[in-house]
Amino acid sequence: MKIVVHINDAAEWQAALSEALPEATVVTSDAPAEERKNADYLAAWKAPAHLLQEQAQLKGIINLGAGVDYLLKTPGLPKEVPIVKLRDAGMGELMADYVLYGVLHFYRSMDRYALQQTNANWQPHSVVEKSQWPVGVLGLGAIGSFVASAIQQAGFPVVGWSRTPKTLTGVRCLHGDDGLDELLSQVQSVVTILPDTAATQGILNAERLSKLPQGASVINPGRGSLIDEQALLDALGNETQTGHLRGALLDVFSEEPLPSRHPLWQHPRVIVTPHMAAPTPLNDAIDQVISYLRAFESGEKLTTINPDAGY
Ligand code: GLV
Repeated sequence: MKIVVHINDAAEWQAALSEALPEATVVTSDAPAEERKNADYLAAWKAPAHLLQEQAQLKGIINLGAGVDYLLKTPGLPKEVPIVKLRDAGMGELMADYVLYGVLHFYRSMDRYALQQTNANWQPHSVVEKSQWPVGVLGLGAIGSFVASAIQQAGFPVVGWSRTPKTLTGVRCLHGDDGLDELLSQVQSVVTILPDTAATQGILNAERLSKLPQGASVINPGRGSLIDEQALLDALGNETQTGHLRGALLDVFSEEPLPSRHPLWQHPRVIVTPHMAAPTPLNDAIDQVISYLRAFESGEKLTTINPDAGY
């Protein structure tokens, strides 16, 4: 079996896969084209189009990340080749750390202290009980549910939302359009961990952002397309005039890298991070990749991506 690997730390993945599967030929995407051709599997994160187009006999594609939006948009993606994606694979924990950092940032007024420091302003703010700081988590897939549970275990009441009904211990789960409006009206921080699909693009638009309580914050480690960025900027107000929302921690954007002139970079109450919330951790993900490869080889039935649904 021949596997082509494309990801930032491809050489490490190559070594780990070769060790686990000594019978396999594992090549990285920067190997000469001659060595890459006729692969059976492509294990890739953000593969360039030519890597897909040059393959003629792929038996499966393993998306080395949680979201398949990039892959599904790549020109030349063969329609008939089954795609599997990583599910949690250590990304839930990384994402939960990022979100907890964001929730605590606003909950403990770190945003205010950062602004005060620029004026040497010594002004403590009171701390409400965590029970008074409900957090909404939009998206209850493998990663969203891990995050929702982690935030609940950290002591915050959590309301979760998904398009279809779900249940999660300790988390109040809502669904559908009405459920989304209900969630938004109740939470101090809203976290977006939905996949980028036709159904989720712009889900936090101006109208929905206005349903959040005055002073609420937004944390987006999911996908940039989930939030209407202009509506978010409008809701945040400007330097002199605080708007409806207090601040935002954003890891993902409609265009990445976020263009240097984008107003989100400059906004004093926005923290921009460069799509780093949950990089695929090799040690946690490798076993899942190996079991996918073995399952493909033995013809086992796998839960594959539905390209029409987008996840
Ligand atoms: C990262 O953005 C991922 O989808 O894994």
